Amino acid sequence: MLIKRPADIPPSEITPRALFEDRRRFIATAGAGLAGALLGPGLLSAHAAPAPGPGRTALSPPAPSPLSTTEEKTSYKSVTTYNNFYEFGTDKADPAENAGKMALRPWTLRVEGLANKPRTFDIDELLRLVPLEERIYRLRCVEAWSMVIPWVGFPLAALLKQVEPQGSAKYVEFVSHYDPKIMTRRPVLEWPYAEGLRMDEALHPLTILAVGLYGEVLPNQNGAPLRLVVPWKYGFKSAKSIVAIRLVDKQPATAWNRAAPDEYGFYSNVNPEVSHPRWSQATERRIGEFRKRPTLMFNGYADQVARLYQGMDLQRNF
Ligand code: MTE
Repeated sequence: MLIKRPADIPPSEITPRALFEDRRRFIATAGAGLAGALLGPGLLSAHAAPAPGPGRTALSPPAPSPLSTTEEKTSYKSVTTYNNFYEFGTDKADPAENAGKMALRPWTLRVEGLANKPRTFDIDELLRLVPLEERIYRLRCVEAWSMVIPWVGFPLAALLKQVEPQGSAKYVEFVSHYDPKIMTRRPVLEWPYAEGLRMDEALHPLTILAVGLYGEVLPNQNGAPLRLVVPWKYGFKSAKSIVAIRLVDKQPATAWNRAAPDEYGFYSNVNPEVSHPRWSQATERRIGEFRKRPTLMFNGYADQVARLYQGMDLQRNF
């Protein structure tokens, strides 16, 4: 994501710390696997979330979704310590270190703009209105690494239905929380972080608002209390810690597109055929693995979403 890199080294070429940690953990769990074989099944699981520790809260078990992938999940540790949340620093470890300062209550979400019933939801009130599901999705970052994350959330469409979008609403804008007292004041991006979707993308059943992961309340660094997840788009579309959702008639400006329009387009669909100007998008490294794997069109969700883009030139609309 970094706008100014001294050399053209895609970030995926630099073995991330989480990857080493996963290797160490793999070695540890290989030993544990032997112990597990002796103790019996179900007692040890390499990728199960540990019982919630201090500051972690389990959610009542969400219903599994048929839209989930069955691929192996990325470890809880990597998902929660290898993050992009630039308001809290640009190193992958910074958000886990700094985002704890963000107070999550009270938290309100304004859903406004071209709607018959615009409304401000208190986060706890909202959570009582929507049924939570577990959605295990691939997340593919524009930096050419990927993860598989068991989110807990609900379809964005369920929220939008509550406010009755008007026919003139063609796009949806998402605005993240910004508090210069606890977040960076450096103009890494234009704050607050903003993203946008076309209305049909926003209403697509794969598009969710996540409030948890690994069966627990979302950690701050992953965008608590509420973040967007759009699995067929590069990770930066998934705005974190959202405070406002606006229904608008024109394509909204987005943080990354404003910062580097040649590098980050509005659509941001995962597309191995459109290289980032400074590195290829043809392959990716799954966090926890060493080999590279080919990147799939729409991040493997083509069957569900390709029809949204029929007739569009995806080289131009990147
Ligand atoms: N949202 C905000 N507010 N600020 C950010 O810097 N980074 C984006 C996205 N949402 C970002 C954000 C990027 S680049 C990615 S890859 C994903 O969050 C990462 O989500 P994760 O850390 O939960 O894996």
